[in-house]
Amino acid sequence: MLTPLRLGVNIDHVATVRNARGGLHPDPVRAALLAIEAGADGITAHLREDRRHIRDADLAAIKAQISRPLNMEMAATEEMLRIALETRPNACCLVPEKRTEVTTEGGLDVAGQDNHLRPIVRALREAGIRVSLFVDPDPRQLDASAAVGADIVELHTGAYAEGHEGELARLVAGARHAAGLGLEVHAGHGLTYDNVGAVAAIPELVELNIGHFIIGEAIFVGLPQVLAEFRTRMDAART
Ligand code: PXP
Repeated sequence: MLTPLRLGVNIDHVATVRNARGGLHPDPVRAALLAIEAGADGITAHLREDRRHIRDADLAAIKAQISRPLNMEMAATEEMLRIALETRPNACCLVPEKRTEVTTEGGLDVAGQDNHLRPIVRALREAGIRVSLFVDPDPRQLDASAAVGADIVELHTGAYAEGHEGELARLVAGARHAAGLGLEVHAGHGLTYDNVGAVAAIPELVELNIGHFIIGEAIFVGLPQVLAEFRTRMDAART
């Protein structure tokens, strides 16, 4: 039996629905509190540069009100660094961001921009914030993540979730490689009931971050039932 995985719940798309009408409902803070009550081990929120879902006030309210760790996803920019240092989440996950993309499309090119990332990683860590880098399971990016001083890598599971051949094997090898470098290993993107098991069975993994499917399915059966189903599937995969 492997150590149970932590489940981080990304509540961005509660804010997406709220913003569709410009009012206050549904409230992402309420979703975060409910997710924790239903067993989430942490809450993830992505403050995008265009504020298309989570806004500055949401992030501050979530941090102030939740009793579990907050993982702030952000682009590696001066503006986001300032907000992170003010907000003091438990962890920051640095992600690539393009204004035109629908979601985070690929991993961060750590190897190609290590000079840019190094001072941001350092500033966050000096403030006591753990730093995670969202990367593809590519040994070159994993080596670069360790070299810039990250605590954690979050492996991008998007290509696996889309069913590309060989992607599960890449995740398995990437997790082993990253753990061998002393990095804590997380994973996320595109995970659903059907594809979570094979990822959850990767022994080196410590945490999964799941958003879109959880919020979408919660419309039909409610957040507590969705989280209970993920917990069952994740635990079964580790026995
Ligand atoms: N991890 C990271 C770094 C992400 O950017 C996202 C998407 O915001 C997720 C996990 C969650 O992906 P999904 O919403 O597809 O579950």
